[in-house]
Amino acid sequence: MERPFAGKVAVVTGASRGIGRATAIALAEAGAKVVLAARSTSQSPGKLPGTIDETARQIEAIGGVALAVPTDVSRDDEVEALVERTLREMGQVDILVNNAAINYPYLLVETPMRRWDLVLNVNLRGTVLCTKAFLPYLLERRQGTIINLSSYLAVVPFPRTLAYSVSKIAIEKFTEGLGKELAGTGVSVNCLRIEVNIATEGWTYLNPNVDTSSWEKPEVAAEAILWLAAQPPSFNGRIVTIEEVRNLRAQAPS
Ligand SMILES: NC(=O)c1ccc[n+]([C@@H]2O[C@H](COP(=O)([O-])OP(=O)(O)OC[C@H]3O[C@@H](n4cnc5c(N)ncnc54)[C@H](OP(=O)(O)O)[C@@H]3O)[C@@H](O)[C@H]2O)c1
Repeated sequence: MERPFAGKVAVVTGASRGIGRATAIALAEAGAKVVLAARSTSQSPGKLPGTIDETARQIEAIGGVALAVPTDVSRDDEVEALVERTLREMGQVDILVNNAAINYPYLLVETPMRRWDLVLNVNLRGTVLCTKAFLPYLLERRQGTIINLSSYLAVVPFPRTLAYSVSKIAIEKFTEGLGKELAGTGVSVNCLRIEVNIATEGWTYLNPNVDTSSWEKPEVAAEAILWLAAQPPSFNGRIVTIEEVRNLRAQAPS
Protein backbone atom coordinates (compact mmCIF):
# COMPACT_ATOMS: atom_id res chain seq x y z
CA MET A 1 0.00 0.00 0.00
CA GLU A 2 1.22 3.52 -0.85
CA ARG A 3 2.22 5.49 2.26
CA PRO A 4 2.69 9.08 1.05
CA PHE A 5 2.66 10.49 4.61
CA ALA A 6 5.28 8.14 6.07
CA GLY A 7 7.53 10.10 8.45
CA LYS A 8 4.93 12.84 8.95
CA VAL A 9 3.10 13.76 12.14
CA ALA A 10 -0.47 15.00 11.80
CA VAL A 11 -2.64 16.61 14.47
CA VAL A 12 -6.40 16.28 13.94
CA THR A 13 -8.80 18.18 16.18
CA GLY A 14 -12.28 16.74 16.68
CA ALA A 15 -10.91 13.24 16.07
CA SER A 16 -13.33 11.44 18.40
CA ARG A 17 -16.00 10.99 15.71
CA GLY A 18 -17.24 12.02 12.28
CA ILE A 19 -14.96 13.62 9.72
CA GLY A 20 -12.12 14.08 12.23
CA ARG A 21 -12.02 10.37 13.03
CA ALA A 22 -12.20 9.39 9.33
CA THR A 23 -9.40 11.86 8.52
CA ALA A 24 -7.20 10.59 11.35
CA ILE A 25 -7.64 6.99 10.20
CA ALA A 26 -7.00 7.89 6.55
CA LEU A 27 -3.82 9.79 7.52
CA ALA A 28 -2.65 6.79 9.55
CA GLU A 29 -3.38 4.45 6.63
CA ALA A 30 -1.26 6.78 4.49
CA GLY A 31 1.65 6.41 6.91
CA ALA A 32 1.36 9.46 9.21
CA LYS A 33 1.60 9.26 12.98
CA VAL A 34 -1.56 10.93 14.23
CA VAL A 35 -2.30 13.02 17.31
CA LEU A 36 -5.99 12.89 18.20
CA ALA A 37 -7.44 15.92 19.98
CA ALA A 38 -11.00 16.20 21.29
CA ARG A 39 -12.83 16.19 24.61
CA SER A 40 -14.44 12.71 24.64
CA THR A 41 -12.28 9.99 26.16
CA SER A 42 -13.08 6.50 27.48
CA GLN A 43 -12.84 7.98 31.00
CA SER A 44 -15.07 10.90 30.10
CA PRO A 45 -17.25 10.11 27.05
CA GLY A 46 -19.55 12.69 25.48
CA LYS A 47 -23.27 12.31 24.75
CA LEU A 48 -22.54 11.22 21.15
CA PRO A 49 -20.69 8.01 20.28
CA GLY A 50 -16.94 8.15 19.77
CA THR A 51 -13.86 8.95 21.83
CA ILE A 52 -10.26 9.73 20.97
CA ASP A 53 -9.25 6.47 22.70
CA GLU A 54 -11.52 4.47 20.38
CA THR A 55 -10.06 6.25 17.34
CA ALA A 56 -6.55 5.49 18.66
CA ARG A 57 -7.47 1.80 19.00
CA GLN A 58 -8.81 1.74 15.43
CA ILE A 59 -5.55 3.24 14.18
CA GLU A 60 -3.43 0.82 16.20
CA ALA A 61 -5.52 -2.08 14.85
CA ILE A 62 -4.39 -1.22 11.31
CA GLY A 63 -0.76 -0.97 12.41
CA GLY A 64 -0.67 2.82 12.77
CA VAL A 65 0.66 5.08 15.50
CA ALA A 66 -1.75 7.34 17.41
CA LEU A 67 -1.54 9.59 20.44
CA ALA A 68 -4.83 10.57 22.09
CA VAL A 69 -4.62 13.92 23.89
CA PRO A 70 -7.80 15.10 25.65
CA THR A 71 -8.22 18.67 24.45
CA ASP A 72 -10.82 21.40 24.46
CA VAL A 73 -9.64 23.53 21.52
CA SER A 74 -11.17 26.66 23.02
CA ARG A 75 -8.89 26.50 26.08
CA ASP A 76 -5.43 28.05 25.94
CA ASP A 77 -3.94 25.75 28.60
CA GLU A 78 -5.24 22.57 26.92
CA VAL A 79 -3.98 23.62 23.48
CA GLU A 80 -0.58 24.44 25.00
CA ALA A 81 -0.54 20.95 26.53
CA LEU A 82 -1.51 19.46 23.15
CA VAL A 83 1.49 21.13 21.50
CA GLU A 84 3.79 20.10 24.32
CA ARG A 85 2.76 16.42 24.20
CA THR A 86 2.85 16.34 20.40
CA LEU A 87 6.44 17.59 20.33
CA ARG A 88 7.56 15.51 23.30
CA GLU A 89 6.00 12.21 22.19
CA MET A 90 5.99 12.56 18.39
CA GLY A 91 9.03 14.82 17.97
CA GLN A 92 7.58 17.16 15.35
CA VAL A 93 4.44 18.39 13.64
CA ASP A 94 3.85 18.48 9.88
CA ILE A 95 0.08 18.67 9.39
CA LEU A 96 -2.62 20.37 11.46
CA VAL A 97 -6.27 19.70 10.62
CA ASN A 98 -8.54 22.20 12.40
CA ASN A 99 -11.70 20.11 12.19
CA ALA A 100 -13.37 20.48 15.63
CA ALA A 101 -16.63 22.40 15.52
CA ILE A 102 -20.05 22.70 17.13
CA ASN A 103 -23.40 24.14 16.06
CA TYR A 104 -26.33 25.51 18.05
CA PRO A 105 -29.44 25.05 15.91
CA TYR A 106 -31.75 27.76 17.23
CA LEU A 107 -33.08 31.10 15.98
CA LEU A 108 -31.03 34.11 17.03
CA VAL A 109 -33.80 35.32 19.37
CA GLU A 110 -33.63 31.96 21.18
CA THR A 111 -29.83 31.96 21.41
CA PRO A 112 -28.34 33.03 24.74
CA MET A 113 -25.14 35.02 24.21
CA ARG A 114 -23.13 32.38 26.09
CA ARG A 115 -24.17 29.86 23.36
CA TRP A 116 -23.19 32.32 20.63
CA ASP A 117 -19.84 32.82 22.33
CA LEU A 118 -19.33 29.06 22.73
CA VAL A 119 -19.83 28.38 19.01
CA LEU A 120 -17.45 31.20 18.06
CA ASN A 121 -14.95 30.12 20.72
CA VAL A 122 -14.79 26.48 19.61
CA ASN A 123 -15.04 26.96 15.85
CA LEU A 124 -13.21 30.22 15.15
CA ARG A 125 -11.11 30.86 18.24
CA GLY A 126 -10.20 27.15 18.47
CA THR A 127 -8.97 27.21 14.87
CA VAL A 128 -6.95 30.38 15.47
CA LEU A 129 -5.61 29.14 18.82
CA CYS A 130 -4.42 25.76 17.48
CA THR A 131 -2.94 27.45 14.40
CA LYS A 132 -1.05 30.03 16.47
CA ALA A 133 0.17 27.35 18.88
CA PHE A 134 1.59 24.99 16.21
CA LEU A 135 2.69 27.55 13.63
CA PRO A 136 6.09 28.43 15.18
CA TYR A 137 7.11 24.75 14.95
CA LEU A 138 6.04 24.53 11.30
CA LEU A 139 7.85 27.78 10.46
CA GLU A 140 10.98 26.63 12.29
CA ARG A 141 11.32 23.70 9.88
CA ARG A 142 10.03 25.76 6.92
CA GLN A 143 7.57 23.01 6.06
CA GLY A 144 4.12 21.78 6.88
CA THR A 145 0.52 22.57 6.21
CA ILE A 146 -2.66 23.61 8.01
CA ILE A 147 -6.11 22.62 6.81
CA ASN A 148 -9.18 24.40 8.12
CA LEU A 149 -12.74 23.19 7.76
CA SER A 150 -15.59 25.30 6.46
CA SER A 151 -19.08 24.64 5.23
CA TYR A 152 -21.53 25.69 2.52
CA LEU A 153 -23.31 27.42 5.43
CA ALA A 154 -20.47 29.98 5.34
CA VAL A 155 -21.90 31.30 2.09
CA VAL A 156 -25.52 30.07 1.89
CA PRO A 157 -27.86 31.96 4.25
CA PHE A 158 -29.78 29.52 6.42
CA PRO A 159 -31.92 29.97 9.53
CA ARG A 160 -30.99 28.49 12.91
CA THR A 161 -27.31 28.42 12.22
CA LEU A 162 -26.09 32.00 12.40
CA ALA A 163 -23.23 31.63 14.88
CA TYR A 164 -21.96 28.58 12.99
CA SER A 165 -22.18 30.37 9.61
CA VAL A 166 -20.42 33.45 10.97
CA SER A 167 -17.65 31.27 12.44
CA LYS A 168 -17.15 29.45 9.13
CA ILE A 169 -17.00 32.55 6.90
CA ALA A 170 -14.52 34.00 9.40
CA ILE A 171 -12.42 30.79 9.14
CA GLU A 172 -12.38 31.27 5.36
CA LYS A 173 -11.19 34.90 5.72
CA PHE A 174 -8.63 33.77 8.31
CA THR A 175 -7.32 31.17 5.84
CA GLU A 176 -6.99 33.67 3.00
CA GLY A 177 -5.25 36.29 5.13
CA LEU A 178 -2.91 33.83 6.84
CA GLY A 179 -2.08 32.39 3.43
CA LYS A 180 -0.74 35.83 2.45
CA GLU A 181 1.34 35.98 5.66
CA LEU A 182 2.79 32.52 5.01
CA ALA A 183 3.67 33.00 1.33
CA GLY A 184 7.29 32.00 0.72
CA THR A 185 7.78 30.42 4.17
CA GLY A 186 7.39 26.79 3.06
CA VAL A 187 4.29 26.51 5.24
CA SER A 188 0.78 26.65 3.77
CA VAL A 189 -2.79 26.99 4.97
CA ASN A 190 -5.89 26.02 3.05
CA CYS A 191 -9.56 25.52 3.78
CA LEU A 192 -11.94 22.77 2.71
CA ARG A 193 -15.45 24.17 2.32
CA ILE A 194 -17.66 21.08 2.55
CA GLU A 195 -20.58 21.72 0.23
CA VAL A 196 -22.48 18.47 0.84
CA ASN A 197 -24.18 16.87 3.82
CA ILE A 198 -22.00 14.23 5.43
CA ALA A 199 -23.53 11.62 7.69
CA THR A 200 -21.57 12.10 10.89
CA GLU A 201 -22.67 11.54 14.47
CA GLY A 202 -22.92 15.29 15.09
CA TRP A 203 -24.69 16.39 11.91
CA THR A 204 -27.14 13.47 12.04
CA TYR A 205 -27.94 14.29 15.67
CA LEU A 206 -28.70 17.90 14.71
CA ASN A 207 -31.07 16.72 11.91
CA PRO A 208 -33.19 14.10 13.74
CA ASN A 209 -36.13 13.95 11.32
CA VAL A 210 -34.15 14.04 8.10
CA ASP A 211 -33.58 11.08 5.77
CA THR A 212 -29.78 10.89 5.70
CA SER A 213 -29.58 7.90 3.35
CA SER A 214 -28.32 10.05 0.45
CA TRP A 215 -25.71 11.87 2.55
CA GLU A 216 -22.05 11.34 1.85
CA LYS A 217 -19.76 9.33 4.12
CA PRO A 218 -17.07 11.05 6.27
CA GLU A 219 -14.38 9.35 4.14
CA VAL A 220 -15.34 11.64 1.24
CA ALA A 221 -14.21 14.67 3.25
CA ALA A 222 -11.15 12.81 4.55
CA GLU A 223 -10.04 12.08 0.99
CA ALA A 224 -10.19 15.78 0.10
CA ILE A 225 -8.32 16.73 3.29
CA LEU A 226 -5.53 14.25 2.47
CA TRP A 227 -5.25 15.66 -1.04
CA LEU A 228 -4.86 19.16 0.41
CA ALA A 229 -2.26 17.91 2.89
CA ALA A 230 -0.20 16.48 0.01
CA GLN A 231 0.00 19.72 -2.00
CA PRO A 232 3.22 21.75 -2.35
CA PRO A 233 3.48 24.97 -0.27
CA SER A 234 2.65 27.06 -3.35
CA PHE A 235 -0.91 25.74 -2.98
CA ASN A 236 -1.73 28.22 -0.26
CA GLY A 237 -4.51 30.47 1.03
CA ARG A 238 -7.10 28.59 -1.02
CA ILE A 239 -10.71 27.74 -0.19
CA VAL A 240 -11.85 24.69 -2.10
CA THR A 241 -14.92 22.49 -2.10
CA ILE A 242 -14.85 18.70 -2.31
CA GLU A 243 -15.90 18.90 -5.96
CA GLU A 244 -13.13 21.40 -6.70
CA VAL A 245 -10.61 19.04 -5.11
CA ARG A 246 -11.91 16.23 -7.30
CA ASN A 247 -11.53 18.42 -10.40
CA LEU A 248 -8.01 19.50 -9.39
CA ARG A 249 -7.06 15.86 -8.79
CA ALA A 250 -8.40 14.90 -12.20
CA GLN A 251 -6.31 17.66 -13.86
CA ALA A 252 -3.09 16.78 -12.03
CA PRO A 253 -0.52 14.74 -13.98
CA SER A 254 -0.45 11.18 -12.62
N1 LIG B 1 -21.08 16.81 8.53
C1 LIG B 1 -21.30 17.71 7.57
O1 LIG B 1 -22.19 17.57 6.72
C2 LIG B 1 -20.43 18.94 7.49
C3 LIG B 1 -20.71 19.88 6.49
C4 LIG B 1 -19.92 21.02 6.38
C5 LIG B 1 -18.85 21.20 7.24
N2 LIG B 1 -18.60 20.27 8.21
C6 LIG B 1 -17.46 20.54 9.09
O2 LIG B 1 -16.69 19.36 9.26
C7 LIG B 1 -16.11 19.32 10.56
C8 LIG B 1 -16.47 18.03 11.28
O3 LIG B 1 -17.87 17.92 11.34
P1 LIG B 1 -18.60 16.58 11.77
O4 LIG B 1 -19.88 16.55 11.04
O5 LIG B 1 -17.64 15.45 11.70
O6 LIG B 1 -18.92 16.93 13.30
P2 LIG B 1 -19.24 15.99 14.57
O7 LIG B 1 -19.66 14.64 14.17
O8 LIG B 1 -20.17 16.80 15.42
O9 LIG B 1 -17.82 15.94 15.28
C9 LIG B 1 -17.29 17.13 15.80
C10 LIG B 1 -15.96 16.85 16.44
O10 LIG B 1 -15.51 18.09 17.06
C11 LIG B 1 -15.13 17.81 18.39
N3 LIG B 1 -15.28 18.98 19.25
C12 LIG B 1 -16.40 19.68 19.51
N4 LIG B 1 -16.14 20.65 20.41
C13 LIG B 1 -14.82 20.54 20.71
C14 LIG B 1 -13.94 21.25 21.57
N5 LIG B 1 -14.36 22.29 22.32
N6 LIG B 1 -12.64 20.87 21.62
C15 LIG B 1 -12.20 19.83 20.88
N7 LIG B 1 -12.97 19.13 20.04
C16 LIG B 1 -14.28 19.48 19.97
C17 LIG B 1 -16.01 16.65 18.81
O11 LIG B 1 -15.37 15.91 19.84
P3 LIG B 1 -15.71 15.99 21.40
O12 LIG B 1 -17.18 16.18 21.54
O13 LIG B 1 -15.19 14.67 21.85
O14 LIG B 1 -14.90 17.14 21.91
C18 LIG B 1 -16.04 15.82 17.54
O15 LIG B 1 -14.92 14.98 17.47
C19 LIG B 1 -16.62 20.57 11.30
O16 LIG B 1 -15.67 21.61 11.18
C20 LIG B 1 -17.88 20.91 10.51
O17 LIG B 1 -18.21 22.27 10.60
C21 LIG B 1 -19.36 19.15 8.35
